[in-house]
Amino acid sequence: MSKEEKELIKSSEATEWFALINLAHILTEKQEILVKSTEFCKTLGTSQQTASRRLQNLEKKGWIRREKKFNVQKIEITDEGYHAIFHIFDKIKDIYERFHIVGTLVSGADEGRYYVSIKGYYEQFKKKLGFEPYKGTLNLELSDHHYAILTQKLNNLKPIIIEGFTEENRGYGSVSCYTSVVYKLNNPDTICKSAILRVERTFHKAHIVEVIAEPYLRQFLNIKDGDKVVILLNNNY
Ligand code: CDP
Repeated sequence: MSKEEKELIKSSEATEWFALINLAHILTEKQEILVKSTEFCKTLGTSQQTASRRLQNLEKKGWIRREKKFNVQKIEITDEGYHAIFHIFDKIKDIYERFHIVGTLVSGADEGRYYVSIKGYYEQFKKKLGFEPYKGTLNLELSDHHYAILTQKLNNLKPIIIEGFTEENRGYGSVSCYTSVVYKLNNPDTICKSAILRVERTFHKAHIVEVIAEPYLRQFLNIKDGDKVVILLNNNY
């Protein structure tokens, strides 16, 4: 670790990091803002005194520039300040990208087979995902923690949309698909191209994820109920 990096990530300065990131959040597109300590302390969840001490420290570190006018101050984040933010962002991004989503294979009520087989969906899956899916969905149960990671990741990805349609007076909702690969935990040598489905209306418990793929995954990945399966999301393929 370089000397410069060491200086940037002193754990004793965690509160300054937090304050800097909150400032950057308020600043968004504006280059500078007028901040009243009474407002900034609300953002930080601290007393007014503590908030103004944070600002002083940020200034001392060279991360912000301020111009005080009565009880209002004009604040600008310096290049060094942004450098510090990007540095911590890279660290967090690294951790985030290393998170794998792991689910436990469970059986459902054979509903997946019914839905995937419906022509209105099936044809779109084939065309938009580029593979002919096995007529069924693999149900994976996720822990709260993995479900939260998955939701966060999906919210940052652009889905492939399978349009809803009406057939014989019955409406079928749209489905968002996210391309992925799946493999049995501890066996990354056998991977399979797949897609995660996010259904508009689902009867599942919140933490079940449905996966479609071309092969019959139970056989292809040699998995049974209770086995752990890893999902890796990709942006595109
Ligand atoms: O509701 P449930 O998942 O039990 O059934 P389904 O969606 O109708 O799928 C039928 C069976 O195929 C289930 O045991 C799924 O786990 C399995 N399946 C699979 O192994 N590979 C796929 N690509 C899709 C489903």
